[in-house]
Amino acid sequence: MFVTVHMPDGATHRLEALEGWRVMEVIRDWGLPIKAECGGACACATCHVWVGEEWLAKLVPPTAEELEMLDGAFQVDERSRLCCQIIMSKELDGLVVELAPESLADAPPERLAVGG
Ligand code: FES
Repeated sequence: MFVTVHMPDGATHRLEALEGWRVMEVIRDWGLPIKAECGGACACATCHVWVGEEWLAKLVPPTAEELEMLDGAFQVDERSRLCCQIIMSKELDGLVVELAPESLADAPPERLAVGG
């Protein structure tokens, strides 16, 4: 299954995903620069994405915790979700998300690890 990710710079990536993976993990593990500071604990909002409108109805609705975290994010609209709270399933094969600019890390994870 795949997730399509539009980056703030206009680049688009089609990433292979596995059932049960969080979309944040898919993006991070493929080496794209996502902040995701809390590591998926629904405690930071730096994994904010806009979900393609045609996919919104297929997502599990956000929890109260997720909505609370999104309150602190920028440019939030009805397509906004924290992508660490979206778990891949067969129904979501082909999901399209756009990474919000404030979720963009300065450098991909590999470079951060190597450069210290
Ligand atoms: S990674 Fe922190 S809320 Fe998603």
